[in-house]
Order: sequence, then C-alpha cells, then structure tokens
Amino acid sequence: MPRKKASTPSFEEALNELESLVETMEQGDLTLEESLKSFERGVVLTRTCQQALKNAEQKSRSSAPTPPMPNWNPLMQTNPELQAFLKRCQNQVENALDHWLPATTIIPEQLHAAMRYTTLGGGKRVRPVLVYATSKALGGDTRQLDGAACAVELIHAYSLVHDDLPAMDDDDLRRGRPTCHKQYDEATAILVGDALQTLAFQVLCKDKTMAINAKTRLEMIQTLATASGSRGMAGGQALDLAAEGEALNLAELENLHIHKTGALIRASVRLGTLATEHDDGKLVQKLDHYAKCIGLAFQVRDDILDIEGNTETLGKTQGKDQAQLKSTYPALLGLQGARDTAKQLLTEALDSLGGMDKKADPLRWIANYIVGRSY
Ligand code: IPE
Ligand code: IPE
Ligand code: MG
Ligand code: MG
Ligand code: MG
Repeated sequence: MPRKKASTPSFEEALNELESLVETMEQGDLTLEESLKSFERGVVLTRTCQQALKNAEQKSRSSAPTPPMPNWNPLMQTNPELQAFLKRCQNQVENALDHWLPATTIIPEQLHAAMRYTTLGGGKRVRPVLVYATSKALGGDTRQLDGAACAVELIHAYSLVHDDLPAMDDDDLRRGRPTCHKQYDEATAILVGDALQTLAFQVLCKDKTMAINAKTRLEMIQTLATASGSRGMAGGQALDLAAEGEALNLAELENLHIHKTGALIRASVRLGTLATEHDDGKLVQKLDHYAKCIGLAFQVRDDILDIEGNTETLGKTQGKDQAQLKSTYPALLGLQGARDTAKQLLTEALDSLGGMDKKADPLRWIANYIVGRSY
C-alpha cells in the first residue's frame, strides 16, 4: 500500500511548531538523539516558512499593476515616410510576437507573463524593421517576413534581459519600466532569457508564412545561431564585461562593439536577404557591408546617448557606462570623436547602397535614424 505523504504545514502551523521546538530545546531536557531529531525537524520547518514567504512575495509582485509605458514619441524626430514605415513594421512584428509568445494563462504562468512583459513592453524594433526593409529593397513581400523579424527580436529581447542582470550591467530600468529581474526575480529573468532564445529558433523552424525552401530555412537558422552565440552577441558581451576598467585600443573596441551589437543587426539584414532567396552575390555583399556599418554605428550612438541622453527619454539609466568604467567610443575618442565616427559609418553605409533604386530608401532612412536617434 502506498504510504501517505505527510502534508506540508501552513506558514502559521510551521511557525508555531518551530516556536515550541525552540522552547523545548532551550529547556535542555532532551537526549542527544531527541535533540538531533528536533534540530532536523527545525530545519524542515524553517525551509517551509521561507518558501511560504517567497511564494507570498512573488504573488504580490505578479499581481502588482504593471507600470505604464512612458509616453514616448520615437517617430517625431524622423521623416514622415520613415514614420509610416516604422509604424507599419512595428505593428506587424508586435502582432507576430503576440501570436508566438505563450499566453499568461499557460503553465508556468509567471514565466510566460515575464516573457511577455519584457518582449511586448516597448522597444524600437530596429532589428525587425531592418529585416522588412531589406526584403523590400530586394522586391520581396514583407508579409512573409514576420517569422524572421520575430526571431531576431526575441534574441534581442533575451539579450537585454540578461544584460540587465546584477551579474552583468545591473540595471533597474529598461524601456521605461523595471527590468525583468526587478519586476519578477533573478531566476525568472534567467529563464526568460533561456526561453526567449529557444523560442526564436522554434519560430524560424515552424513559421509557415515564409515562402522559402528547406535549405534556405536552415541557412537562416544558422545565421541567427552564429550571430547570437560566442562568435557573435554573447561573445561580444563577454568582451564587454572583460573590458570594464581596461584601456582598449580602437581595434579592440571596434571588435567588441561589432560582436555585442553589430552581429544581430548584421544578421537582421542577412535574414531579409535570405528570405527573398536573392542570388546576386554582389548586391548581397553590399547589403552586408551596409549592415556592418550601421551595426557598429548603432552601438557608437548608444554610447553617446549614455552620456548625452536623459533617463526619462532613454527609458534606461543614463550614465551607467561611466559608472561601470565601460569601454566605449566616447571614453576612447571623446564625444566629438565618437560623433564623427558615427557620421563616417553612416556615409559608408549609404555609399554601400549606391546604385540601388528607391526601394532601398527605407534602408537609407533607417541608417540616418540610427545615427540621429535620441533614445
Ligand atoms: C539596446 O538596444 C541595446 C543595444 C544593443 C545598444 P535598442 O536600443 O535597440 O533597445 P530597444 O529594443 O529599442 O529597447
Ligand atoms: C548591450 O549593450 C548589448 C546587448 C544587450 C547585447 P549595452 O549594455 O550598452 O546596452 P544598454 O545600454 O544597457 O541598452
Ligand atoms: Mg551591457
Ligand atoms: Mg547594459
Ligand atoms: Mg549602452
């Protein structure tokens, strides 16, 4: 006959039993064996109380109202055509993300709520926009790009959740709201990153809207995997942490930025190219060079904004880089030097698109936007 499992005492019961155990032990009338038994029981009861407190804390955190998104207007600073294009792409990828992210009613509810909190909570969606814009430049159908756009944004969202963890940049604010580990807890934030990363590849494998053959799909998976891993974003993050307080030279700093931020931006353009199954090698190379330039420019601008921007507009804590002795372009070249670098990269990116027709205009607008943005 199966043994009946002892039921776990409630918080109150455990606390009462613990109190009486302590009293008995303090009286000192117990044999050695009884004392050991009481001690073991005390450990179990203490754990029960700690777990009950943790559960209550989590419950109150997840039922707390989600802080509202700040009233940003990211599109004000750009031209009207870009505004319309950005809005369309942002809506498109947000609908797709909403479709692929598991509902908060599915177990484990808190993990799914945290995944949605971090992914759907704002963000400029620059990487998805690049996927769509590249396909448009090559005459592709942007409606078939949702899976690729979604996948790269999921990797990006995961990278931000982990970037903000105490063991990394230790940030409290992201996209104008508490970071994932602040809103939930560290363990949840680590799992959110793990789950978003694997979801990205699930989407690339399963998405049915892309009219591509299996070989191209595999190449897309390979592109995103390489860009995300130790030879891409994660590797760049390792270099970033190792470079805190170090005096890197320009080549080393460029290498760091190209990996931590450039790799995913480059992959976004590559995914857009692959999805259209374009076979003009020269054009593909030009687009890749464009992507490398704007990928680096993106992080140079991010470094500048960490100094020039303000926390409210940025939606993340201003001044973190200096406080953490990060290796950045302004730290190495000064603010003006960093601005000049961003401009040179913009010129090089636009030159790369030379010869492409009007369909490539969104790529031109985005390059300007990346270098001129205020958050
Ligand atoms: C921030 O990326 C992290 C960097 C790679 C510099 P974004 O500036 O694209 O962040 P969101 O997605 O708009 O919040
Ligand atoms: C983050 O760079 C790059 C990745 C998340 C891969 P930062 O650490 O500079 O990004 P922010 O400034 O926190 O957004
Ligand atoms: Mg960082
Ligand atoms: Mg950071
Ligand atoms: Mg930064």
